[in-house]
Amino acid sequence: MEKIEEIKKLLEEEKDTICDLKQLNELKVKYLGKKGLITELNSQIKEVPKEERKEFGSRVNEVRCDFLSFYEEKRKELEDALLNEKLEKETIDISLPAKKVKRGSLHPMTRITEEFEDLFVSMGYTVFSGPEIETDENCFQKLNIPLGHPARDSQDTFYLKDEFERFLLRTQTSTAQVRAMEENLDKGPLRIVCPGKVYRRDDDATHSHQFMQIEGLVIDEGVSMADLKGTLELFCKKILGEKTSVRFRPSFFPFTEPSVEVDVNCFKCQGKGCSLCKDTGWIEVLGAGMVHPNVLEMCGYDSKKYQGFAFGTGIDRFAMFKYNIPDIRTIYGNDIRFIKQFDRKDSE
Ligand code: PHE
Repeated sequence: MEKIEEIKKLLEEEKDTICDLKQLNELKVKYLGKKGLITELNSQIKEVPKEERKEFGSRVNEVRCDFLSFYEEKRKELEDALLNEKLEKETIDISLPAKKVKRGSLHPMTRITEEFEDLFVSMGYTVFSGPEIETDENCFQKLNIPLGHPARDSQDTFYLKDEFERFLLRTQTSTAQVRAMEENLDKGPLRIVCPGKVYRRDDDATHSHQFMQIEGLVIDEGVSMADLKGTLELFCKKILGEKTSVRFRPSFFPFTEPSVEVDVNCFKCQGKGCSLCKDTGWIEVLGAGMVHPNVLEMCGYDSKKYQGFAFGTGIDRFAMFKYNIPDIRTIYGNDIRFIKQFDRKDSE
């Protein structure tokens, strides 16, 4: 029993000297390890006279339990202290400039296409889409361009082979006129725009074999050239600036009658004459006209009851003007340095 008291006293003294986890664990080994002082007391139980054995045992156990609860408490205290110290050291300095996250940027074609769509949607149009692989009927015949018609010459394209021979890559988004009218089963009013890729056998600084157009079609009763003029004038001013002057010239498209081409005053020389406008002061931006009655009839519309106007323009052309891009091929070149120049340029 004396020995127990001795060990307990020693333990009490040693407890006060513990200041880290290592020391605490060493203390545990010293008292409760295989050859630990308390462990040894336990193994001495059998040597204790029988009548004292019970008390001896419970006393040893008491010392052991005391130590264990001290151990747990101290361990928690030391661990908490360690964690707090670590947290204090690792405080974040929020005044440091943050690491920059690289952001992608919208391609100029996506940007300008969305601008066109937003404008027309605000005027009550819906965005319509059609396939790039088309039939000869939709691309030409139903647009009043029969087989062998000379208007096909300026729109040579890529034809599919073998069993897909009747398909070609569309040369104009005017195919959307046919599709929108045919798909509109009640044959009533329509107001759509269709942006998309088109293909032609062209390749130089201002023509690419693949480029983008946006088509517009309005069908209703009592639609006139005045509606067409007002719409396109507004369109040019909204996209190219309020100061833009717009000019309509008579032209020819097989699927519109009458047909016009729309010019805007040259924004490079303000109409004085330069290389961009080939000294004319004007730049052609749109083809348009009143939907030909033959086209209305071929697409299931009553041409006595309904009129319409249609227009089409190259989105690339507008992007080249708006962003001052000299060569159309850079638009499709996938050079990241080109696209990066459009990083958050406009207010977004
Ligand atoms: N599709 C014609 C072209 O590609 C443009 C156009 C569209 C003309 C609609 C009139 C009406 O040149």
